[in-house]
Amino acid sequence: MTWDILIRNIKGLVQTRDRATGPLKGAAMAILPVLENAYLIIHNGIIEDYGSMEKLPASASAITVMDATDRFVFPSFVDSHTHLIFAASREEEFVMKIKGATYEEIAAKGGGILNSAKKLQSASEDELFERAMSRVHEIIRTGTGAVEIKSGYGLTVKDELKMLRVARRIGKESPLTVKSTLLGAHAVPKDKTKEQYIEMIVQEMIPAVTEEKLADYIDVFCEQGFFSQSETERIVEEGKKHGMKPRIHANQLHRSGGVQAGVNTGALSVDHLENIGDEEIECLKNSSVIPTALPGAAFFLGLPFPPARKIIEAGLPLAIASDYNPGSAPSGNMQLMLSLACIKMKMTPEEAINAATINTAVALELDDTHGSITKGKIANLFITRPMSSFAFMPYAIGSNCVETTILSGKVLS
Ligand code: NIG
Ligand code: FE
Repeated sequence: MTWDILIRNIKGLVQTRDRATGPLKGAAMAILPVLENAYLIIHNGIIEDYGSMEKLPASASAITVMDATDRFVFPSFVDSHTHLIFAASREEEFVMKIKGATYEEIAAKGGGILNSAKKLQSASEDELFERAMSRVHEIIRTGTGAVEIKSGYGLTVKDELKMLRVARRIGKESPLTVKSTLLGAHAVPKDKTKEQYIEMIVQEMIPAVTEEKLADYIDVFCEQGFFSQSETERIVEEGKKHGMKPRIHANQLHRSGGVQAGVNTGALSVDHLENIGDEEIECLKNSSVIPTALPGAAFFLGLPFPPARKIIEAGLPLAIASDYNPGSAPSGNMQLMLSLACIKMKMTPEEAINAATINTAVALELDDTHGSITKGKIANLFITRPMSSFAFMPYAIGSNCVETTILSGKVLS
């Protein structure tokens, strides 16, 4: 038998697991299986086999043989929360923030989400696609293999559909696995009252998105000054009726009731969590909702970081995603998210890697095919540059440890 790809002499094959049910929780998050001195075989885009080098059959041959001496192999990151389709960056707001303005003050001055919406509304689908694809290539180079992409900078039916069509096109034309989320309720557009806009989301936007089968999930920015807990619940319940499961922007700036909304509506995840207390942690204990930290956003906005240790010590799972967006998290680099998780949230490298691979795969309902080195899963993985241990990756802040990316069994770089 001649296989497609054989990777030999892998110093550490990270995250080797059998298929499991559900996310890793509590103490289990500290366990990261790593097979030393390993080989890995890829065939027809799938992980065919792996094992210790001593067990590699002498007769094994492959069309492409790669040597990973001194290098680690990781499953590609699964980034379960991004807004990577946008028309323009917002560094002018970044400068305002440096000079002391808060996120809310910037929004009140016509910046923020409404600023991105204005720019997106005047961009064509092709322009948006092209701009988003440069970000897609960037995150592939830093190790991401699957990504969730939200709408939310359209804020009209036409423009939300435009964003979701771009997301679908990224899924078809790039090597990334893409899941899409309708985030019509990201902010209230200037020409409508909140009540009018919610009616439009419910009566027009959700049915139009369903008609074209453009979104897997529905999300709401549950936050003071944006959408309340009860408005969030109403919108996501409508989405559920149309087959879109909820995932919620919860507790970023205030104790907004977002976590409770997520638990009450059976959301897949509640994301952000910079402002949670014991009450929210208790509430999560009685649910299967996956708490998700977005350390890039907390870092960029100078917010408190989500209480990762408390969450894990409560026996809960924790996932980590980038929140890649132009306003509050302008990086989709999941290696940087690992560094922030370790440094600012006191997660161990093992916990952070689990949070950004298998737990995000569960949060995106991709754990059958993504998130670990498992026989039969899609061959989405990367080979690092020479490293002394897997902890080097979060330690080496700001550098790219990814040397070679393989997505769906194809070597990309
Ligand atoms: O996840 N919090 C709401 N939405 C984004 C930020 C949006 C923006 O400022 O453009 C977030 O942080
Ligand atoms: Fe977000």
